[in-house]
Amino acid sequence: MIETLYWTDEGVVMVDQRLLPTEELYPVFTTYLEVADAIREMVVRGAPAIGVAAAMGVALGFRDAKSDTEAGLDAKFEEICSTLAGTRPTAVNLFWAIDRMKRLYQRLRKDGVASASIREKLIAEARSMHTEDIEINRSMGRFGAELIPDGATVLTHCNAGALATAGYGTALGVIRAAIESGKSVAVFADETRPFLQGARLTAWELHKDNIPVTLITDNMAGHFMKAGKITCVIVGADRIAANGDVANKIGTYSVAVLAKENGIPFYVAAPISTIDLETKDGDGIPIEERPSLEVTHVKGNAIAPEGVTIANPAFDVTPNRYVAAIITERGLARPPFSESLRKLVNGAAESA
Ligand code: MRU
Repeated sequence: MIETLYWTDEGVVMVDQRLLPTEELYPVFTTYLEVADAIREMVVRGAPAIGVAAAMGVALGFRDAKSDTEAGLDAKFEEICSTLAGTRPTAVNLFWAIDRMKRLYQRLRKDGVASASIREKLIAEARSMHTEDIEINRSMGRFGAELIPDGATVLTHCNAGALATAGYGTALGVIRAAIESGKSVAVFADETRPFLQGARLTAWELHKDNIPVTLITDNMAGHFMKAGKITCVIVGADRIAANGDVANKIGTYSVAVLAKENGIPFYVAAPISTIDLETKDGDGIPIEERPSLEVTHVKGNAIAPEGVTIANPAFDVTPNRYVAAIITERGLARPPFSESLRKLVNGAAESA
């Protein structure tokens, strides 16, 4: 099993995803500031994984927070939460996880629970978010597997696998579940410029699990769709607006348009915590702009002229009209998404 991140008494251990696949290192991050840097610098990435990392960062920060007064500790707790919330703007799971830790903290404070016990309970909460995330992915996998025919070839973009979550994966979890149910499934993985999550991470984890994977560069997807080689597309999401517009890794929108043009279903697999009913549509989703170095350099080597103007939006928004279904741990949402997503978030699962 791939261990993306886990809690230890020394701190949060995370596989350094910047180094994969050539080096597999598991450094320990011993302060909340180190965890915040790890999220910002993409040691850990993928919406559910950064949510769990942030929750662990909150628990770690508060465990080591020092103040003589309760008010001082409250202020420290707020500072920890806002530092972690300031790391990456698009994936709503980050804010969802920090809010969950905040709600627990406030409830315990209100109940007069001693600070030593609050420290323990925050650690327990972060650890249970880790366990829950894997269970959620397995449940998502069971619903999503129904959509994949035996013998299918699934195209995916970026990495929505074990490495993007506490384990098993969202989009790749659906593929794993279909294979576990006895179906034969192969994957086409887009390399996903500029950070190469497809080439470095998706290809690595599928290859490690002996799941047949063909790695292609991003500009090859349309060619293979037109040639009839792709049965369906499954991607993850960083934030899904109330109307079903989906923010995901840059390039996802182009894949969705190509899929529609070629009559190929485009599915999104994401936990309920990725659905943001407060954001009406995709226009309200903040898109992270990342350093230009990610575009101008590959593994430290320049591939562009020095001084050239660079744009590097890390995500794009796929309008809901391109999405055939959203796969969650509570079931599938189908268009019209404003209705089906609201029902799912409020607890009523629809059938496949
Ligand atoms: O910039 P990243 O690598 O954090 O972006 C990740 C993605 O876009 C994933 O597709 C998304 O978070 C879903 S992961 C289950």
